This record gives sequence, structure tokens and C-alpha cells, in this order.
Amino acid sequence: MSDTPAEQIKKFVFTSNNSKGEALEIFIPELLQASYSFYTWPSAPVLAWFLWENRADLKGKRVLELGSGTALPGILAAKCGASVTLSDSATLPKSLAHTRRSCQLNNLSINEQIKVIGVTWGLFLSNLDCIGPIDLILGSDCFFEPATFEDIIVTVSYLLENNIGAKFFCTYQERSSDWSIEHLLEKWNLTCKVHNISTLGSQSGIDIHEIIGGLSIHLLEISCKTKFYKLFVSNLPWTVSHQELRQYFSKFGPVNVCTVVFDRSTGLSKRFGFVSFGNRQGFEEAQSAQEHKIEGQIIQLAPANQENNSSE
Ligand SMILES: C[S@@+](CC[C@H](N)C(=O)[O-])C[C@H]1O[C@@H](n2cnc3c(N)ncnc32)[C@H](O)[C@@H]1O
Repeated sequence: MSDTPAEQIKKFVFTSNNSKGEALEIFIPELLQASYSFYTWPSAPVLAWFLWENRADLKGKRVLELGSGTALPGILAAKCGASVTLSDSATLPKSLAHTRRSCQLNNLSINEQIKVIGVTWGLFLSNLDCIGPIDLILGSDCFFEPATFEDIIVTVSYLLENNIGAKFFCTYQERSSDWSIEHLLEKWNLTCKVHNISTLGSQSGIDIHEIIGGLSIHLLEISCKTKFYKLFVSNLPWTVSHQELRQYFSKFGPVNVCTVVFDRSTGLSKRFGFVSFGNRQGFEEAQSAQEHKIEGQIIQLAPANQENNSSE
């Protein structure tokens, strides 16, 4: 007799009541009597239904799924036009192999239509920086063991800080009322919005409560508190243009937006402007430089706040 547990294929069908009658079938391999990553946890269809109902927003998005396991949400995102990287612990090669098997069953060719990589929460290996820009991070039932909560949050915080505007959508199964991630979100500069899941699936005539039974599952949208690494720059020479300002600050890091403010009636420079960096590093390095000189003139910097933002 073989020691390998038998594989069973579970079919998930996502439908829509709209006039186009869109539908998607996803096939998930499961290994019975095995551990965490070989089984689709009840949180996964909840996240998948949320993504399905927002599928119009997925097209062209760059998505990373953490702790993918059988990867239902990530595979759905790929099928809806997102560019997806699935991940699971780098120390669990069998789990990663199972994630690849899920891709294969759904005709997603690895490295061409979808990627699968090892990402271990709390470990900053070089592959984390090789993922490239990310718009969305997904995670279903990653918060299942309090000892790893901070590792997940640290990884998410790092990724969100390096991908301005990105969000982490995760489903969280409440297994004990003593568990909380609130203090960790605060510690790592993150903010959280809880989505109401009770109407999920109603567009398709399904009742999400039939899927999750009596379990308490929450859908969280986590983002960075600091949305923009933005500097207010003043004492600029009259002659400095947007391009010159961008060129100067690009040596500190990627500059997303750079503006010099001009007087609308006279067309003359008001001698101040704003520089938004694409990551915290650029923002901090620019501020830690001893002196900034453009066209021989010393300029001043300060983190942009509500008051000086309004002049833009
Ligand atoms: C409860 S399962 C959820 C799997 C899948 N997302 C789902 O909802 O069906 C947790 C997943 O996290 C992965 N995992 C556990 N510890 C991890 C770690 N330290 N770093 C990355 N992934 C981890 C497991 O291999 C497993 O796939």
C-alpha cells in the first residue's frame, strides 16, 4: 500500500446572475489525512467569493498570495486576469509542490501564467525583493497560530511599505476570542477595515453562511497608515522645474510624483513643491542628507502634512 494520502479533487463554481451569465470553475486537489496546506480551509472560499464579486478590479493587478496552500483565492485571481504569484513557506517543499499541483489542475502554466515561490513569514530572504511591484496581497486563514501572527504582520508591513497603495485582503477565522492582531497592526503602522461578508455571494444567489456554517470568519482589508512618503520642499530657486526637482530627488529612491507649485495668475514659481517617494527608504534617505542644494541654492525639506498638502 502507498504511504501517499489519496488525492481528491474539489470543484468550486463561481457564478453570476448578471446578463452575461459569467461562471468560473476551479479544481482544487486535496490530500486527506494530511496537514494544513493540503486542504482548503473555510476562509478560502470566503476570500474567493469576495474576489469574484470584485473581479472587474482584478484585471491587470499584480497579486501575491501568502500561505497559499491549495490557493483557491490566488487561482481565482489569476483566472480573472491578475498577474499572480502564489507563495507558501520556503521550508515546506511539499506544500509548494501541492500549490503547483493546484495550478496545473487549472491549466495555469507555472512561470508563464502564474508563479509559485517560497515566502516564509518573518524571514527576509532575497526572493521577497524579487517579487516585483505588488498591488494586492491575499491571505486566507494565515492567522491560525498566534505564535506566527507577528511574523505575518511584519512581512505584510514590509511589502506594503514598499508598494505604495497596495492592500492586504485576508480572511481570518476566529478560533479563540483571546486572539487579536490589533496591537500588532498598531505596532507595525498598519490600519484595518473589516468588510461585512453577510451579503457575499448574493449576486450569484448563494448564501455564504451555508459555506462557512457556524464558523466566525472575518474579511479584513489591511493597509499602511502612511500612504504617501511625501516631502514638502521649499526655498527652491525660481528657475527649478518639475523635471529638475525629480532628477535631483531620484538619487534617493524612486520618485512617484514631483511638483513645483506655480502661481496661476503670474505663472511664476512659488518656490515650493512636493516630492512623493515610492518607498520609505527614499523618503528617509532624502531627509537624512545633511544639506540639499539645487542650482547652488540650499533648499529645505519637511514631511508633508495636511496643512501644506492643501497648497498643492
Ligand atoms: C491554515 S492553512 C491555509 C491554507 C490556505 N490559504 C487556505 O485557506 O486553504 C495555512 C497555510 O500557511 C502556510 N504556512 C504555515 N506557516 C507558514 C510560514 N511560517 N510562512 C509561510 N507560510 C506558512 C501553511 O503551509 C498553509 O498553507
